[in-house]
Amino acid sequence: MQKAVISVGGSVLIPGNDDAVYIRQLADMLREVSKEVQIAVVVGGGKMSRYYSETGRQLGGTVYQLDELGIGITRVNAKLLTVALGDIANSEIPLKAEECASMSEPGRIVVMGGTEPGHTTDAVAAMIARCMKADRVINASNVDAVYSADPRKDPDAKRFSKMTIKELKEVVGDEHDAGRSYVFDPMGVDIAMENRIDLFMVNGRDLSELRNAILGKEIKGTFVDSH
Ligand code: UTP
Repeated sequence: MQKAVISVGGSVLIPGNDDAVYIRQLADMLREVSKEVQIAVVVGGGKMSRYYSETGRQLGGTVYQLDELGIGITRVNAKLLTVALGDIANSEIPLKAEECASMSEPGRIVVMGGTEPGHTTDAVAAMIARCMKADRVINASNVDAVYSADPRKDPDAKRFSKMTIKELKEVVGDEHDAGRSYVFDPMGVDIAMENRIDLFMVNGRDLSELRNAILGKEIKGTFVDSH
């Protein structure tokens, strides 16, 4: 059975607008696809983690503490998805990528959040993929593809339907700052490059698109070739 790790952005899972409807549909789709592909899911923090991070910053928190706040929220979000998935999912949220990989098996879906300060959940997804020897990582964000610049701010941004992992590395750069948003975590890009893990960058609110990505089919978003 093929293996896929999905990084679901918090802004996709829980934007704060009737979220149970989407989460239910996502869980149903994942349950169905898990008959064909072995799946692990990492959930991000979304605006709630940004709120905690910003409030912690105003209170004089260190970057390490702000990251810890973000991690806490990602784990709560992961727990929420397991509630929707029911028996097929884990009841305890793994704290490390290795733990997630060892819990993963065909027909089950392991869900987790962040691990430790210094990176985001995209990097965790790449770490799990490395441990599980996964075929691909799917980044389910609220952007439909990779662009040369933020398409919401720059109307001239170039859209990629296919790119190499080296080209993606040029787009993302390599900084880290709590609460900052990247198309994919630079550390995750490095791990994917070293381990030749292909990335599928899709809009996670489009469930048929996300399903195609999990199955390794043609997508409307960006296919990142790491081979
Ligand atoms: P996210 O993975 O949601 O990061 O984790 P993000 O870049 O803010 O979100 P997206 O990709 O735009 O949706 C939220 C925050 O939690 C901390 C980081 O501070 C991150 O910004 N975090 C998360 C860690 O420090 N380590 C982890 O393993 C995961």
